[in-house]
Amino acid sequence: LGLPEGSRRTRWWQGARDALVAVAGQGTPRYVYDVATVRQRARALAGIAHVDRRFFAIKANPHPAVLRALVEEGSGLECVSAGELAHVFATVPGLDPRRVLFTPSFAPREEYADALARGVHVTIDSVQPLRRWPELFSGRDVLLRIDPGFGSGHHEKVRTGGKGAKFGLALDALPALLDAARDAGARIVGLHAHIGSGIHDAAHWREVHAVLASVAARIGTVAVLDVGGGLGIAYDPEADAFDLDAYARELAEMKAAHPEYELWIEPGRWLVAEAGVLLLSVTQVVEKQGVRRIGADAGMNALMRPALYGAFHDIVNLSRLDAPPGPPADVVGPICESGDVLGRRRRLPEATAEGDVLLVADAGAYGMVMANTYNLRALPAEEAIDG
Ligand code: LLP
Repeated sequence: LGLPEGSRRTRWWQGARDALVAVAGQGTPRYVYDVATVRQRARALAGIAHVDRRFFAIKANPHPAVLRALVEEGSGLECVSAGELAHVFATVPGLDPRRVLFTPSFAPREEYADALARGVHVTIDSVQPLRRWPELFSGRDVLLRIDPGFGSGHHEKVRTGGKGAKFGLALDALPALLDAARDAGARIVGLHAHIGSGIHDAAHWREVHAVLASVAARIGTVAVLDVGGGLGIAYDPEADAFDLDAYARELAEMKAAHPEYELWIEPGRWLVAEAGVLLLSVTQVVEKQGVRRIGADAGMNALMRPALYGAFHDIVNLSRLDAPPGPPADVVGPICESGDVLGRRRRLPEATAEGDVLLVADAGAYGMVMANTYNLRALPAEEAIDG
């Protein structure tokens, strides 16, 4: 699919060490995004011929430079709140609302009203919006989010299908939904499913597509099947990268099985995760009862993923990139919770010391956007570079 050699494990920052150390000198914690990497990813996805439309899930990274680059590369944008909708229209001048998809969860009436007034594609995921606010949906085309009955993903907290998940219409509720749509005067023109995040088995999306196609056959007015996002990345530098070719093959099979439907996808993480790094400064190195800890000036306040999901992010000492690995140490932040650990038993150089710049890799998705001010610590700075 035209990804240049070596880009399966995009480590653009390895060639930019001096520049990044200089940038860190302007203050840490700081997120840095390489827009060139985002563009390269977008082009690789655009090379999948059988996909009719791509919508970037902006919840992963709504930085203006990222959004503008993706729209320039032909991507649409997927939003889940009125705040995200306002942000994309303010950020991308002249954005065509038909390039925006609104897929909220348990949204209030005003958010649906706002989305419908803007003319974006709107997804409902239960019968309630139709029953309670039929006047909003009268004469409207909408998409319907389906729960195919199973979920998938890198952690229980990001699996969004099956009985335990709050998302989507269960298949047994379809007749009631169709009645409500008819009563409201709404038309179901698309079916949507996103059943989890951080998925590596490409066969997954075909299973979802098969369920959607069978539901579409029962409805009759459906023109679009949206199989969601969820493409994983390899956070572990030793692990295999997400197999984009296998993903493309699955999409081709879906389209071949049901050429009568448009095929839409909604990737977030895969486009941006590897484009972003989090720069931190070492505060103190402490040895306590045989455990060595390297303290950084931000932790779970800047990047929640390790604390929230036990997620792995590679961490390197940019100031001593060529030094040999030292004894294992936990990389911890300054937050007053024991869960404030960014990485366990990492082999950073033995000489790691106050003022060194640490780089937390693959932090471009669900990083800054989930950062918080816990302990009244300031949010990280953020900047985009291009190449
Ligand atoms: N579409 C919908 C409706 C979604 O809810 C999501 C993500 C996506 C697309 C994009 O999924 P992606 O391609 O990025 O996997 N904070 C978690 C991930 C939460 C994902 C939420 N929904 C993490 O850091 O792993």
